[in-house]
Amino acid sequence: MLARRFFSSSSRFAHENPLGLPRNTPQAPQIPRRTGPIAPRKIPNVKHVVLVSSCKGGVGKSTIAVNLAVSLALSRLHVGILDLDIFGPSIPTLMGLRSASEPELTSGGALRPITNHSIPTMSMAYLLPPMPPNPTDPGSQINTSSDTPVVWRGLMVQKAVQQLLFQVDWTGGEGGPGLDVLVIDLPPGTGDIPLSLGQLVIVDGTLIVSTPQDVALTDVRRGISMFRKLNLPLTGLILNQSYFLCPSCTTPHHLFGAPDLFRRTAKSLDIPILAELPLVPGVSEGGDGGAPYALTSKAKEGGRGGEEWRSGMKDAAQRVLDSIKQQTK
Ligand SMILES: Nc1ncnc2c1ncn2[C@@H]1O[C@H](COP(=O)(O)OP(=O)(O)O)[C@@H](O)[C@H]1O
Ligand SMILES: [Mg+2]
Repeated sequence: MLARRFFSSSSRFAHENPLGLPRNTPQAPQIPRRTGPIAPRKIPNVKHVVLVSSCKGGVGKSTIAVNLAVSLALSRLHVGILDLDIFGPSIPTLMGLRSASEPELTSGGALRPITNHSIPTMSMAYLLPPMPPNPTDPGSQINTSSDTPVVWRGLMVQKAVQQLLFQVDWTGGEGGPGLDVLVIDLPPGTGDIPLSLGQLVIVDGTLIVSTPQDVALTDVRRGISMFRKLNLPLTGLILNQSYFLCPSCTTPHHLFGAPDLFRRTAKSLDIPILAELPLVPGVSEGGDGGAPYALTSKAKEGGRGGEEWRSGMKDAAQRVLDSIKQQTK
């Protein structure tokens, strides 16, 4: 049974059931009502949930989410990735799953994740119908679902988020062990999705990614204040694209400004810095090519910058793990 067969964008069904999934499955949560408090709960078959947020777009959040998942998986954990960046899903590209076929449904109506590099993933992009090629543009061969824009709002988005949160089968098959950690790639900013997620799900860690510029840091402060209001555990900050080490010299070039402001911001917010990662061309190439940098040996070819990125990412993953363990003690 294929999920896309159930997908309907007709106006009759669109606002009720945007993913077209069966309605009466036992796990399906209800849309939060205004009366009474909402109790956050566990995602089925997932031990720990770690959010990756960036507050601002384009700072490398999805890249870090994917590489964090890979780094955790290299420590022999069962790790999955959920792409909740509904309006700009990029996990399929970063995981080499752009041309994946649509997810199957279990007999209970849950979506089966799509796996690559031994990491199961689920993304809105897998569920959207492909865009038809543009007849006026002979070069428009790219028509995968990740190119299809999502134009839903309000309740439809909320419903889609709930289905992606609670109706994915992370067991890896009948009676499988489930996940130790589910890494969730959030959309940038402080919109509806992180808000409803914070209300619906028990979260074990939140990682915030920023670049050194003041504009990014302003958004970080705003995001952190929202996470604090939601009582989500703040694991730490990652400064991405912090500096560039060219192959012919040893001086770090702070292309987007010195890290001082970021460090002061982290200190004033009382949040630990987990890593300051350099700009490395291979990270970007790996993302576009669907081969996460933490997984490939290319880091060795990336010179000192590659090495520093790799060890920074490894440290960050270890600290995420330590903080999860600390909380579950
Ligand atoms: N440390 C880095 N070095 C080089 N390129 C990077 C680095 N971090 C992110 N990028 C690149 O920056 C772009 C934006 O990253 P992405 O993860 O899609 O950001 P976001 O999810 O925050 O929108 C991508 O092309 C990605 O490959
Ligand atoms: Mg992204």
